[in-house]
Amino acid sequence: MLQQFLLILRTSLKREKCYPVSRNHPLKESILGISEQVLQQLHWRYATKKFDPTRTIPDDLWQTLEESLVLTPSSFGLQPWKFFVIRDPEICKQLVEHSWGQTQVTEASHLVVFAIKQQVDAAYVDRYVARMSEVQGTPVEALQGFANVVKGFLTQMPDQAAIDAWAAKQVYIALGQFMTCAALLEIDACPMEGINPPKYDEVLGLGEQGYRTIVVCTAGYRAADDKSAARPKVRFPLPEMVQQIG
Ligand SMILES: Cc1cc2nc3c(=O)[nH]c(=O)nc-3n(C[C@H](O)[C@H](O)[C@H](O)COP(=O)(O)O)c2cc1C
Repeated sequence: MLQQFLLILRTSLKREKCYPVSRNHPLKESILGISEQVLQQLHWRYATKKFDPTRTIPDDLWQTLEESLVLTPSSFGLQPWKFFVIRDPEICKQLVEHSWGQTQVTEASHLVVFAIKQQVDAAYVDRYVARMSEVQGTPVEALQGFANVVKGFLTQMPDQAAIDAWAAKQVYIALGQFMTCAALLEIDACPMEGINPPKYDEVLGLGEQGYRTIVVCTAGYRAADDKSAARPKVRFPLPEMVQQIG
C-alpha cells in the first residue's frame, strides 16, 4: 500500500510542469534526484512530540531557517508578519502553561512565534512600495497604480478581524515553508496551535510592538525515545486528495 502510494506520488512529480525551473536554474539537470530527496525528507519529518533537550541547532543552519522565513511569499508581497525567536529557557518555562502543557516548548532548541502585524494600512503599503522602489530601482511614482490596488484591497475589508484573518493565512505559508526547509536540513519541528495566543502576546510583550500571535513552531532534534517518530503517516490516498480537471 505504501509502495503504491509512493509510486503514484513519484509519477505525478515527474510531470514536467511540476518542476520549478522557470529561471533556468543550474539545478535543472539534477531535479529528479532532488525530487527523490524531497520526498524522502517529507516522509522523514513528523510533528515531534519529544525533543532532545541536549541538542542545539547549529547557528549556520538556524540562519538558513531564518532566511527561509523572510523569503516566504505573501499576497501582494506585503509580509504582514514578524517571526519572534525564543531561546531563553526562563521565558520558555513561562510559556508551557500557555501551550496546553506541551513540553516541546522547553525541550526544543528554538521556538518561533508566528505573529501578524496589527497595522496593515495605507502607511504600511507606502512603506512597502518605498522598499520595492529601493530594491528594484523603480521610481515610487511608477508604483502608485500598484499601491492604489493594494490600498483598495485593504479598505474593502469589512473590519480589523477580516484583515487579521487574511494576514493569518499569509503567516501559515511561512509556517509551511519553515517546516519543509527544516525537514530538508534534517531538523525536527512541531507546529503548534495548541497555545493560548493572547497569553503568548502578554508574556512576550507582542501587543506593545503591534503584533498578535497566531501559531508557533518548535524546532530542534528528536529524542531517541520519541515514539511518534516510528508511527506511520496517516494520509488519505493521493488520488482522493489530488484531482486532475481537464
Ligand atoms: C497548524 C498546526 C497545528 C498543530 N498543532 C499541534 C500542537 O499543538 N501540538 C502537537 O503536538 N501537534 C500539533 N500539530 C501536529 C499535527 O497533529 C500533525 O502535523 C498531523 O497529525 C500530521 O502528522 P505529521 O506532521 O507527523 O505528519 C499541528 C499541526 C499543524 C499543521
